[in-house]
Amino acid sequence: MTSPLRQLAYQHRWIYDMVTGISALSVGGVDRLRSLGLSALNPLLPRGADVLDFCCGSGEAAAPWIEAGFQVTGLDVSPKALELAAARHPLLTCVEGLAEAPPCAPASFDAIQISLALHEFSRAERKQVLESCLQLLKPEGWLVVVDLHPAGPLLHLPQQLFCALFETETAIALLEDDLPKQLQEIGFTTIEQSVMAGDALQRITARRPSSSMLESTLEKS
Ligand SMILES: C[S@@+](CC[C@H](N)C(=O)[O-])C[C@H]1O[C@@H](n2cnc3c(N)ncnc32)[C@H](O)[C@@H]1O
Repeated sequence: MTSPLRQLAYQHRWIYDMVTGISALSVGGVDRLRSLGLSALNPLLPRGADVLDFCCGSGEAAAPWIEAGFQVTGLDVSPKALELAAARHPLLTCVEGLAEAPPCAPASFDAIQISLALHEFSRAERKQVLESCLQLLKPEGWLVVVDLHPAGPLLHLPQQLFCALFETETAIALLEDDLPKQLQEIGFTTIEQSVMAGDALQRITARRPSSSMLESTLEKS
């Protein structure tokens, strides 16, 4: 069931921004939260590399990549969010489409970011989204995911409350699942997970293997 507060937050931007602002305090503020993907992959990518911000919304987490000199494409299903993203970030290439079936050519990107969006998908859709990432990445390209993680004792109750008020059962499913293991099963390699914000948030980096290695991994599974 969807809470009325979630609907309100999506209808009224200031509520969404306020909730994000409060949640971001635990990682040092909104700017730090929005830069978590960039700070993980920045040292691994050449300047000007092609980056896809999957489920980019109005482009807040794409902005630090653009400022750092990357060529950034933002994909989202919401035309309204993309309109805002295009107005705020003129250098962002906006693509409307489904993350489960993205209208982009395979092996187009050096890196893909999914910031605070994977929890919006059911388990079956999440698998499709991560498989899309593997397809869209160039061989040896990088994925970074920032999303919810089961909180430690200090933030356990606040996280439960946040999920009850603003999230749906798909977020609960993400909290129950082992995301690094899922990425490995899909074919990613070099998977590293870091947890932060009282364990309430996880950042995972993972790499698409070379084409020959990917084929042999998928044959074995
Ligand atoms: C919580 S927002 C996160 C936005 C942004 N990544 C950020 O860090 O602020 C989730 C976004 O996922 C988008 N979204 C939801 N389902 C989608 C789908 N199936 N395909 C593409 N985008 C989707 C929504 O439109 C929304 O903009």
